[in-house]
Amino acid sequence: MKSDLYRKTKKDLPVPPNLGDYEELRKSFSWKTAEKELAWFEGKINAAYNAVDRHVETWRKNKVALYWEDEEGRKQQYTFEELARRSNQFGNYLKDLGVARGDRVFLFLPRIPELYIAFLGILKIGAIAGTLFSAFQEQALSDRLGNSGASVVVTHSSLLPRIEKVRHKLPELHHVLVVDHEAFAKELSKKDEELHIVHMDPGDYAFMLYTSGTTGKPKGVMHTHRAVVQEYETARWVLDLRDEDTYWCTADPGWVTGIAYEILGSWTAGVSALVYAGRFDPKRWYKLLEDYKISVWYTAPTAVRMLMAAGGALVRGYDLSHLRHMCSVGEPLNPEAIVWAVRTFGRPFHDTWWQTETGAICIANYPAMDIKIGSMGKPIPGLDAAIVDDSGHVLPPGTEGNIALKPGWPSMMKTIWKRPHKYESYFSGGYYISGDRGLMDRDGYFWFIGRADDVIKTSGERVGPFEVESALVAHPAVIEAGVIGKPDSLRGEIIKAFVVLTKEESDKVKVKAYAEKLKEELASHVKKHLAGHAYPREIEFIDKLPKTRSGKIMRRILKAREMGLPIGDTSTLEEY
Ligand code: PRX
Repeated sequence: MKSDLYRKTKKDLPVPPNLGDYEELRKSFSWKTAEKELAWFEGKINAAYNAVDRHVETWRKNKVALYWEDEEGRKQQYTFEELARRSNQFGNYLKDLGVARGDRVFLFLPRIPELYIAFLGILKIGAIAGTLFSAFQEQALSDRLGNSGASVVVTHSSLLPRIEKVRHKLPELHHVLVVDHEAFAKELSKKDEELHIVHMDPGDYAFMLYTSGTTGKPKGVMHTHRAVVQEYETARWVLDLRDEDTYWCTADPGWVTGIAYEILGSWTAGVSALVYAGRFDPKRWYKLLEDYKISVWYTAPTAVRMLMAAGGALVRGYDLSHLRHMCSVGEPLNPEAIVWAVRTFGRPFHDTWWQTETGAICIANYPAMDIKIGSMGKPIPGLDAAIVDDSGHVLPPGTEGNIALKPGWPSMMKTIWKRPHKYESYFSGGYYISGDRGLMDRDGYFWFIGRADDVIKTSGERVGPFEVESALVAHPAVIEAGVIGKPDSLRGEIIKAFVVLTKEESDKVKVKAYAEKLKEELASHVKKHLAGHAYPREIEFIDKLPKTRSGKIMRRILKAREMGLPIGDTSTLEEY
């Protein structure tokens, strides 16, 4: 364990942080009191109302909520009032289609303003919003839309062909709305700008996100309107958002960070936010930080490492003097990245830990708290975290175990869509077991060690090995495949596939050029059928996969072999 301490000085805290004294607040805090900071309708709530409409009744009415820019430099901006009206129109459009409370409406859109507007509109009428990352292809789309039983998909002409390809498999999908089709836009603009915002029970569903585990298809993680309470509080405590800020979260709403901290938590905190609809590019990113005078920045460690790789000298050409606070999420933030940030930006990135299932930040480094470089910080006020064994017994400080949370935090998932047993399997001994391994030191700081399962994190994005294996097996040359995350200094992990070929193909790949060509073809097959970001960057042909006697692929052994580590207990292994 590395224990270099980054002690906060006045320079790090040019303004008093929202959360001044962590230990003090932990002692006195109650969610009941915190809830009062949000807008309620006699015990009922609507997360979208809190994010946007509530501000329309205050001085923030004409404040810019969304600054939008794309790769070509096109710009748009929306005030809170404009977002409120436009999302009302969207809500009315859906209502006129017959969409009712509890119906699933999915968004398959690039990061354009309509994505944010539609998301809000869906929540306002009490329907459930689902987001689909724009890199998804047929298989990923039909799994998610099929399982959720979505009745409406909102998409863009550039993505429409993918929906059309799978539509015949989706009997419950009644409407496909294409936001850039003129007829749709015209219809939408005629809708009433006033809308009755549905008053929801705090435990009613607001949005759902599919995420991956080790086995099986992606699972639909269900989140409620109450989640906004924690998303808001953490946006203030951890991201330290305040009215003067222009904030940039680089995540995509296809993932939970883009929902919790680009829509619900951050806007509820009333902040002006930038959305950049473009690919990663160091110069462009620095230019955006400069142009929009970004003061708070939330990104992923892979992005930080890519900026590092582009060189610190590049930064000197830009005025980043407005940057006040920086955080990261999604994968381990390596100490080198923090040290580099301090040298380059004069301040560290603050690591935050949470998951799709937790709905909001759970463990974090706070602006006013010293950072033990390499640790994820401490649990947020109102939440107890612990390290437990597999039966849920708390382990003493310094011992490796499961990172676990005491259930009851406001943004905790409510269930897994149509799979209640899967939901129950997350809990043991009264704890929610995260699937991550870690330890807590004597000072109460949490340290990440690794996943307890085979889930892969590549560039901060969560990928289930089973989905990639299934995509590979769908190729005629492939009999079986085993997929692992291989450590990578830039992307955290890359996807590596071990592939068993048909007899005929295995003869052919003895010719090197043929083998290389087939590897490329398999990678692009996964890209085309599953998702652009979830393809194997490395493929190795292998005669046989290690399996248990019951036929389960032992990815752990593939990984150990790949990394030259001892393969551990093989008592359940079939002959290998
Ligand atoms: O393994 C942990 C890793 O990301 C997983 C959750 O992924 P996802 O559901 O996609 O949500 C990511 C964004 C909230 C975790 O189980 N992870 C997340 N944050 C960290 C992390 N690993 C190490 N350090 C972190 N700070």
